[in-house]
Amino acid sequence: QSASNAFKVVLLGEGRVGKTSLLLRYVENTFSETQTPTVQATYLSKRVALENDGAATLNVWDTAGQERFHALGPIYYRDADAAVLVYDITDSDSFDRVKSWVKELRQIAGSEISLAVCANKSDLERARKVSQSDGETYAKSIGAAFFSTSAKADKGVAQAFMSVATALDAK
Ligand code: GTP
Repeated sequence: QSASNAFKVVLLGEGRVGKTSLLLRYVENTFSETQTPTVQATYLSKRVALENDGAATLNVWDTAGQERFHALGPIYYRDADAAVLVYDITDSDSFDRVKSWVKELRQIAGSEISLAVCANKSDLERARKVSQSDGETYAKSIGAAFFSTSAKADKGVAQAFMSVATALDAK
């Protein structure tokens, strides 16, 4: 933990699951139906007031989910304090992809990194393919916090990032 209480957080997940949208909802409170794919990675920072009256800075790296950028992953997560793994509840493949990211992370970033799982697009309940209990059970099995989120409807987003900041602050 640095003196300024700044933490590096990396968003990981398949293309189109909503990584950029979650970050833009959190930092700028905006949402776009036509969010364009991230190329390589982008970065946004937010100072968070914690419930214990402290504060933390989250420096969040939003990585590209498209497979052609896969090899860049370790550049962003190698020295990260936390990884937020995102899947789309309407896309089972994206849930499987989270599981393979976690295996890779464990090998390269080690076990120190804090993990959180976001089951995104919860507003699309009628098209759901991954049950909430499957998501929760998996998150528990890897020692990760679990959040049901919708960047579009602004559900669970602030809670997810706040929980990451609180967990890192407490470390
Ligand atoms: P890459 O940059 O390619 O890795 O994609 P990404 O994971 O950053 O996804 P992005 O935020 O670009 O969102 C992809 C699409 O999903 C966009 O059309 C968004 O508008 C849409 N989207 C993102 N979050 C939500 C959500 O919570 N609900 C719904 N219905 N659509 C969402």
